[in-house]
Amino acid sequence: MNIFRTKITEHSKTPGQLRRFLSAFDLTLLGIGAIIGAGIFVLTGVAAATTAGPAIILSFALAGFACLFAALSYAELSASIGGSGSAYSYAYAGLGEIIAWIIGWDLVLEYGIGACAVAIGWSHYVNDALMTFGFSIPQTLLKSPGDGGILNLPAMLIILLLSGVLMLGVKQSARFNMAIVFIKLIAIGIFIVAAIPEVKPGNWHPFMPFGWSGMVEGAALVFFAFIGFDAVSTAAEEAKDPQKDLSIGIIGSLGICTMVYILVSGLLTGIAAYTTLNTQSPVADAILRLGHKISADMIALGAIAGLTSVMLIFMYSMSRVFYSMSRDGLLPKGFSHVHPKTHTPIRVIFISGILMSLIAGFFSMREVAELVNIGTLAAFVIVCFSALFLRYSKPNLPRPFKTPFSPAIPLLGIIFCCYLMISLPWITWMRFITWMIIGLVVYFSYSYSHSRVDRH
Ligand code: ALA
Repeated sequence: MNIFRTKITEHSKTPGQLRRFLSAFDLTLLGIGAIIGAGIFVLTGVAAATTAGPAIILSFALAGFACLFAALSYAELSASIGGSGSAYSYAYAGLGEIIAWIIGWDLVLEYGIGACAVAIGWSHYVNDALMTFGFSIPQTLLKSPGDGGILNLPAMLIILLLSGVLMLGVKQSARFNMAIVFIKLIAIGIFIVAAIPEVKPGNWHPFMPFGWSGMVEGAALVFFAFIGFDAVSTAAEEAKDPQKDLSIGIIGSLGICTMVYILVSGLLTGIAAYTTLNTQSPVADAILRLGHKISADMIALGAIAGLTSVMLIFMYSMSRVFYSMSRDGLLPKGFSHVHPKTHTPIRVIFISGILMSLIAGFFSMREVAELVNIGTLAAFVIVCFSALFLRYSKPNLPRPFKTPFSPAIPLLGIIFCCYLMISLPWITWMRFITWMIIGLVVYFSYSYSHSRVDRH
C-alpha cells in the first residue's frame, strides 16, 4: 500500500474542461468577496466584547500575520502547481495522497460548513432588514431545532438559490460577485466616514481588559474574518494567466482586507464602549446608536451583500475541491462531470447545495462555525509545510512566484497557525478529530482503491 504516492498537475497539463475566464482583477475581487463577511460584520463585536476589548485591533493584526505567512506559501504553490483543488492539489504534489486526502476533506469542512455558518448569520440580518419595512419571519422558521425553532428557512433558501447561480457558469458568477463586492465596500466606506468624527479616545481605555490571553483568544475567533483568500487558489484552472494572476489575487485581496479590518475594528471600539458590542449586527448597531439611521440601514444592506458573496465563493470553492478529488478518483467519478453548456460541475454543486441547505436549516450557527477555524488553520499549516518540503524535494519545479525569506516565512506561518489552533476550545478539537476520522474511514474504504494517480 503506497499512501504517499504523489501527483503534480502542472498548469499546462490540466484537462482544460473548465474555461479560463478570470483576470487578476476578477481574482482579487473573488478574494475580497470571500473574505469580508460575517467575521467583520458580526464577530468583531463579539470578540471585542467578550475576549479582546479594544485590543481587538491587535487580534486582527495577529490573525492577519498568520494569514499573510500562509498566503505567501499559497501564492508560491498555486503559481507553480495550480489545480482547482487548491491546497489539496499542493499536498498531492508535495506530501503524498494520504495528506492530500486529509487536506481535501478538511477544505470541504472549511468551505462547506463555513458557507452554512454564514447562511445562518445572513438569515438574521435579513430578518432585521425586513423588520425595518414592517415584516418579520416567524422565529420558528428562523431558528434551528437546537435554538428552539423548527428550521432556518431563509438560510436553506439562500444556499439553494446560490447553488443555482453557480450552476449557471463561472463568468456569470464572477459578474454577480463583482456587483456584490462593490456594495459591501461602499457599506464599509459609509461606516468609516460616519465613524471618524464620532471617535472618543476614552473608549480605547482600558486597551487590553482581558489581558494578552484574551487578545490571542480574540485572534483565534476573528481569524474567521480572514478565511477566504485561499479560495482564490481554487480558481487556478479558470484563471487566464494563473502563474501571475493567482499571487496578485491572493496577496492583493488579503492585504486590502487586513487594512479594512484594522481600520474598522479600531473605529468600532473608538465610537462605542467595547462592552456594548456583543450584538448580532454590531457595526450597524454602533452607528445607529449615534443617531445615523440611514447610514445604519445602508451598512446592514452591505452586510447582507457581504455575507451573500462569502457564501457564493465558499460554495464555488467547495465544488472545485470536490471536482478535483473526484477527477483523481478519490471521490465517485460522477462529481467531476462538467456540463457541456455551462462548463460547471453541476452535479457536485447540486448535491452539495442540497446537503448544505439541510445543515444550514437544522443546525445552530455556533455548532457549525466552531469547526471552521480549526479546519482552516490545519489546512494552512499543511500548505506552509508543503511549500517548505517541495523546496527540498523538488528544487527544480518552476516557481513563477517565490515566497521571500524562505524557510523563515513558511515556518512562521506554521508557528502562528498552531498558536491560534491551541487557543481554540477542546470541544472544537473533538469535533474536528471526529470529522477527520470519518474522512480516513472513507479514504481507506473507497478512495485508496479507486485512486487514478498511478495512471497520471
Ligand atoms: N471571512 C469570511 C467571513 O468573515 C468567512 O464571513
